[in-house]
Amino acid sequence: MKSSAVSEPFSGFMARALFDPERGYYTRHIKTVGTRGDFSTSATLSPSLGRAIADWLKGESHLQSHIRHIIEIGAGDGSLMQTVRKALGWWARRRFTFHIVETSPVLRQEQQKKLGNKVVWHDDLESALTASGGQAFIYHNELLDAFPATLVQWSAAEQRWLEVWVPEQLHPHALDAAHFSALRHTAFSDRQRCELHPSVRDWLRGWTPHWKNGAMLTIDYGDDFPGLYHRRPHGTLRAYLLHQRLTGADIYANPGRQDITADINFTDYCAWLHELGLIEVSRQTLAGFLEDQSASDRLCDPDGAGTAFKCFVHRPQACAS
Ligand SMILES: C[S@@+](CC[C@H](N)C(=O)[O-])C[C@H]1O[C@@H](n2cnc3c(N)ncnc32)[C@H](O)[C@@H]1O
Repeated sequence: MKSSAVSEPFSGFMARALFDPERGYYTRHIKTVGTRGDFSTSATLSPSLGRAIADWLKGESHLQSHIRHIIEIGAGDGSLMQTVRKALGWWARRRFTFHIVETSPVLRQEQQKKLGNKVVWHDDLESALTASGGQAFIYHNELLDAFPATLVQWSAAEQRWLEVWVPEQLHPHALDAAHFSALRHTAFSDRQRCELHPSVRDWLRGWTPHWKNGAMLTIDYGDDFPGLYHRRPHGTLRAYLLHQRLTGADIYANPGRQDITADINFTDYCAWLHELGLIEVSRQTLAGFLEDQSASDRLCDPDGAGTAFKCFVHRPQACAS
């Protein structure tokens, strides 16, 4: 996929580079996730995470024993689901129907090779929730960071945020500052960049009305705002190609051939879930989560750059206690 000469917001560029049906990275060119792919994740580096998620699921199913569905969103090469199922053990495993929501046809094939008929696949979370009668335990690892980001830059001269377009130009944006912590912040130095995720907010708004009972475990890299951008004047956007971390102009170099990702602003993420009526049950670092689930034999930091992974548990209001 060639860079477009047509000017467009960065979010449009990222959406096409990753998810264009014909030439996107996830839709076409990704080979796999892990050492044979362009990037590794906590799930592909060690079974610790899968074991900890299985322990978390066992704990949740003690609290909500009527729930019979487990949904993983964005399952990569399928190794996390494979470890979770194994670690649950025979008795716990047979109580549940397992679902994967996956938008990449290439990765879905990888998952099917590993998991065969043990899992039901869906194109979106709405259909997985419908199949579960709205009652499900949900987990996702390093999913949100693949959502298209809107890139903004602070202009000290104009005292306002401007949106970055591709090829690089700055334009006024049409986002409502009430929903994005960065847009309300005016204490940055000139040219500070931040990533916003209206794509995540829209996605949450689509499926949360279909979820009635259960618990959701979110694991991703990111931080609260504004700490997320401490000493990061260029923001957190980066690309990965053959395990090489690329920044600056290299992010635009091979659209469709490399992963593009940004950290998650969890201040916004949790505020959006709260607006949608979900209750935050816990928040901790991945290290803390692994320790709580007695799975801290190996800490997972595939980024190798001090990236902080965080874990959040949310429940629909009806079952939060
Ligand atoms: C960075 S990979 C992480 C894979 C896996 N969770 C792991 O930890 O190894 C992102 C995954 O999310 C999938 N994905 C991206 N956007 C998605 C969406 N909107 N719904 C479902 N899956 C999505 C990708 O195809 C891929 O499987």
